Amino acid sequence: MDDFDQAFIQAPEHRPKLSDPEADGIPTVDLSPIFNSPDGTFPDDLVRQIASTSIDWGFFLVVNHGVPAEKRQRMEAASREFFRRSLEEKRTVMKVEGMVTGYSDMELTKNVRDWKEVFDFIVADPTVVPVSPEPNDHRLTHWTNQWPTYLPEFRRACEEYVEELEKLGHKLMELLAVSLGLPAERFRDYFKETTSFGRLNHYPPCPSPELALGVGRHKDPGVLTVLAQDDDVEGLEVKRKRDGEWIRVKPVPDSYVVNVGEITQAWSNERYESVEHRAMVNHKKERYSIAFFFNPSHSTVVEPLKELITPENPPNYKSYSWGKYLSNRMLSNFKQLNADNIQV
Ligand code: SIN
Ligand code: FE2
Repeated sequence: MDDFDQAFIQAPEHRPKLSDPEADGIPTVDLSPIFNSPDGTFPDDLVRQIASTSIDWGFFLVVNHGVPAEKRQRMEAASREFFRRSLEEKRTVMKVEGMVTGYSDMELTKNVRDWKEVFDFIVADPTVVPVSPEPNDHRLTHWTNQWPTYLPEFRRACEEYVEELEKLGHKLMELLAVSLGLPAERFRDYFKETTSFGRLNHYPPCPSPELALGVGRHKDPGVLTVLAQDDDVEGLEVKRKRDGEWIRVKPVPDSYVVNVGEITQAWSNERYESVEHRAMVNHKKERYSIAFFFNPSHSTVVEPLKELITPENPPNYKSYSWGKYLSNRMLSNFKQLNADNIQV
C-alpha cells in the first residue's frame, strides 16, 4: 500500500468487500415477446416485470434483446485493440477542455480517481455544435467525435454498435412508458436529436483492489444506461434499495445490464429511482465493459410528466434543461480534474 497513489484511495466506508457472500441477483427480463408480438403490444406479465424491477432495483438484465451478437463482438474487439495501443497513441484522441469525447485516463468520481481508462463517443456527430452552458458563459462544449486514425475499423465498429443500442433504448422506453400507464410512444419525441453516448471502459489489474474502485459510487444522469459487461471478469455492484447492501451483478453472456437514470426518475416523478452503483477492480485480471447512455435532445426540458401528477402525487422536481445540465457537468468534471491534478 505504501506506494499506492493516494488519489485512488476510497474513504474506508466506500471501499469494496472483495468477498461476495450475496447470492441474490438483479432480475433477468426476457425481451423476446416484444419482437414476436404481431400487433406491437406487450404481454402484461412482461410489463409487470419491468415495473416491479424498476421500482425494487432500478436495474434489470435483458436477454433476447435484439442486438446482433456480431455487432457486440466487433465492438468488444475494437475496444481491446484500442486500449492495447501505447499511451502516446491513445493520447492523440485525448479529451481536452470542452471536448466531450475521446480518451481519458484521469476520470474522477466524487473527487477520487477511478482505476480505469475510457474512450467516449457520441452517437450523433454533427460537425461541431457548441453549446454554452449559460447565455453569458463563453466556455463551450464541443459535440463532435475524435477517432483514432491508426485503427481503420474502429469508427465503424463504434457507430454500428450504438445504432443498435439506440434501437434497444427506444424499445425499452416503450416498455417503460406502458409500465407507467402511458402510451408506448410517449417518450419518442424527446429523442429527436439524440445526445446518447458510447463509453468504452478498460480497468487494468490493480495492485490494491481493496482500496480503490474502477468507478466510484454514482448515479447515472441520463434516461437509461445499457451496459455490456465482460463475460468473464465481474466487477459491477448495485446498491440494493431495500437494505443498502452492495450486490454483485454476475456476468451473463449476451445479456445487457439496464438501469434507469435521473431523467427517468424525474419523468416518472420518482416512481422509478436511479440507483447507485460502482465497479470493483481486480488484482490479477483486467476487465472491460461498454456503456451506452441513452439520452434525449439537448433542448429537452426535464420535468415530471403531467399525466403522472395528481393531488396525492405532486411534482417532486423543478424542471431543468438537459442540454445545460450536461454541458455544465462535462465542464465541471474537467475543471475538477485539473484542480485535483495540481495537488497530486
Ligand atoms: C459505470 O457504471 O460507469 C460502469 C460500470 C461497469 O463497468 O461495470
Ligand atoms: Fe454508471
